[in-house]
Amino acid sequence: MNTETPVVVLGAGYGGLGAARSLGRLGVAAWGVHSRRDAPGLASRYWRGTAVWDMAAPAEETLGFMRVLAARIGRRAVLLPTTDAAALFTAAHAGALAADFLFAAQPLELVRALVDKRRLQQLLAAAGLPAPRTAFPSDADGVRRFAREVDGSIVAKEADPRMPGVSWKAVATSADALLADAEGARLLALGNLMLQEYVAGGDEASWMFDGYFDSQSACRAAFVGQKLRQYPPGAGVASLAVCARNDEVEAMVVAFLRGLGYRGMVDVDLRYDARDGRYKILDVNPRLGAAFRLFVDRRGLDVARVAYLDATGQAIPSVEPLEGRRWMLEEDATALVRRDRRIGVLAWTASLRGVRELAWFAADDPRPLLVRGLRGVRGRAAGGAHRRGPSGVPVRDVWPS
Ligand SMILES: Nc1ncnc2c1ncn2[C@@H]1O[C@H](COP(=O)(O)OP(=O)(O)O)[C@@H](O)[C@H]1O
Ligand SMILES: [Mg+2]
Repeated sequence: MNTETPVVVLGAGYGGLGAARSLGRLGVAAWGVHSRRDAPGLASRYWRGTAVWDMAAPAEETLGFMRVLAARIGRRAVLLPTTDAAALFTAAHAGALAADFLFAAQPLELVRALVDKRRLQQLLAAAGLPAPRTAFPSDADGVRRFAREVDGSIVAKEADPRMPGVSWKAVATSADALLADAEGARLLALGNLMLQEYVAGGDEASWMFDGYFDSQSACRAAFVGQKLRQYPPGAGVASLAVCARNDEVEAMVVAFLRGLGYRGMVDVDLRYDARDGRYKILDVNPRLGAAFRLFVDRRGLDVARVAYLDATGQAIPSVEPLEGRRWMLEEDATALVRRDRRIGVLAWTASLRGVRELAWFAADDPRPLLVRGLRGVRGRAAGGAHRRGPSGVPVRDVWPS
């Protein structure tokens, strides 16, 4: 593999950190961009340089930032978005970015439709795919009406992440509980609340698909995994997951995305519904998934490496997932102490068999976990700083004022 082309990873959460480690270990010069200077992911030894920037900042300023970054790197670099904001920005400004960066050109309207859960519901319906019963109520009556239609619990989410408001999710058993929640009421007032019937089952009824589609929308990497535990439990991110073969999930997701002409990296969340025996697509993230390092193939390929190969015009070998591989987010240890669904030490330890990689810890790169621990001890540092130069470079020498 030719590793001369640098990579810019937009977002240094544990997904971005995983990309820096995966490509950095091969010798690729990785540059990291994150909205906060104190982000633990920026502490990795695998960054050649880092910069602080909020990709949701006004587009003209962000384009200016990207030009300065490109000049600092000194050659065309592969661009890997790991957040919705970065994927949206990259798709919206593909023309302007193409001179300095290599990336999968994603159709902007499709990226917009996928990140907006209201429009995702329309795409699923148009493709004839089943989805849990969903509503976008505009007032309290609408919330009560939906609660009456649904038998079990309701999950409430933010519908469109581009609208103001925080990323918030809750599982509730009644309309009153939802309306009493300050965040829920706020999203309702903003017209950005989505309600969905909670598809019953344990964490292991939640599935993931991570993959890569080339410029012809051919799927060049397809990985399927099952969540074993989530954090927070019930409706969170995968904290313990296993790579597993599931032809039904793979075929359904690939057909859906091909039908949309999808290109680039993707991360999909699904839920198995025992009532009709079908898998329901919940969420399609048009970017690198945070838990993508669960998915590694026999040759060590993962979605970031496949995206890098394709962007640099190198052949992509056929991908053979390592089934049974487990991956863990450190928060999984909270399963030992939480009030409900607590598990014993022996059962927890047994469930870690097969864990090959952790989200934050790596023996050859311990700083991100240390920084994260220190930040926990000191409490959350004050708000993020904007417009700082790549590490080690005085700000005013690099940044336009
Ligand atoms: N309707 C639902 N029924 C059951 N579990 C759900 C439902 N919606 C979300 N979840 C759980 O919560 C997780 C996060 O929800 P998701 O829709 O993917 O939102 P986000 O955009 O925050 O990732 C899912 O992966 C799933 O495990
Ligand atoms: Mg999701």
